Amino acid sequence: MISAARITGTGSYLPEKILTNKEMEQFLDTSDDWIYSRSGIRQRHIAAEGEFTCDLAEVAAREAIKSAGRRETDIDLIVVATTTADQVFPSTACLLQNRLGIHGCPAFDVQAVCAGFLYAMDVAYRYISTGASRCALVVGAETFSRILNWEDRSTCVLFGDGAGAVLVEAADTPGILSSHIHADGTYKDLLCVPVGVSTAYQQLLNGEAYTEMQGKEVFRWAVSALGDAVVEVLESNGIHQSEIDWLVPHQANIRIIKAIAKRLELSMDRVVVTIDQHGNTSAASVPLAFDVAVRDGRIKTGDKVIFEAFGGGFTWGSMLVQI
Ligand code: UT7
Repeated sequence: MISAARITGTGSYLPEKILTNKEMEQFLDTSDDWIYSRSGIRQRHIAAEGEFTCDLAEVAAREAIKSAGRRETDIDLIVVATTTADQVFPSTACLLQNRLGIHGCPAFDVQAVCAGFLYAMDVAYRYISTGASRCALVVGAETFSRILNWEDRSTCVLFGDGAGAVLVEAADTPGILSSHIHADGTYKDLLCVPVGVSTAYQQLLNGEAYTEMQGKEVFRWAVSALGDAVVEVLESNGIHQSEIDWLVPHQANIRIIKAIAKRLELSMDRVVVTIDQHGNTSAASVPLAFDVAVRDGRIKTGDKVIFEAFGGGFTWGSMLVQI
């Protein structure tokens, strides 16, 4: 390893418009009680017409850069995790680079759906570790509301829009202690948008590219894979779960979050939960929750924090960070 990597800044953004469970009762056969008891969600934020993933990413990114005390021109790598890119190409990372007035550094998207931020962080960590980057901007940003069937109550109540960002910099001491990412395409059909540019371009043009999910099976898999992922991150660092100060989990379902906290024997007051406020924002969910807990002072310098996430693919991962 040439250099250690540290998170030096955080930022996040949620679109202004809030859609509550109660409001969803008006146009969907559902109830606040069902949604909250099954998922822990009370409301989600929805991007306005004409507001796109890169717009959300830009606000979160500028906040992260500012909180690190850096300038845009210090950045030498941009990785954006998103499932809902503004355009087929260029990548959202290139669009963001242009907005930030940065020229020349590598900028690209990674696509691992809800585990996307863990994948993007893994990339940044390895770039910095090998000396290829010294100041990386990592963003998770989604306008997931655009790939939902608003008549399908089993999916549309669960997701929302948002963005989170971190700055990762080369440092003398770590920082990021280890990163572990996985995928298994065997389960590609359990959580997916089954059409794309190559297979069904007309459906995309018609706005008929919707998220489909076998909820129960995804739930079972998420609990099992994330449980293994947190054990993996502990074992690879040779540390006991009692040494963990905070869990910042993917915000998909409060029952999944509680199952992983139980596996870590971590009390829920050491777990950052924001799902009630914004639902599942896919790649944005971990950096959003992390930013909230850093800004409100819960997560402090020196704390050991586990990130974990699970998404379509399946994809999943975990990371141990010392703040
Ligand atoms: O971020 C990517 C990872 N994604 C996840 O981790 C999500 C994993 N899955 C889940 O979170 C849960 O499976 C759900 C929240 C999606 C569903 O919870 P569940 O306890 O597994 O419920 P279910 O799918 O077994 O549905 C139970 C019932 C069904 O009715 P019947 O067949 O028992 O009569 C559904 O039709 O609830 C019904 N239902 C609803 N009722 C009211 C499904 N969606 C709704 C709804 N409102 N929105």
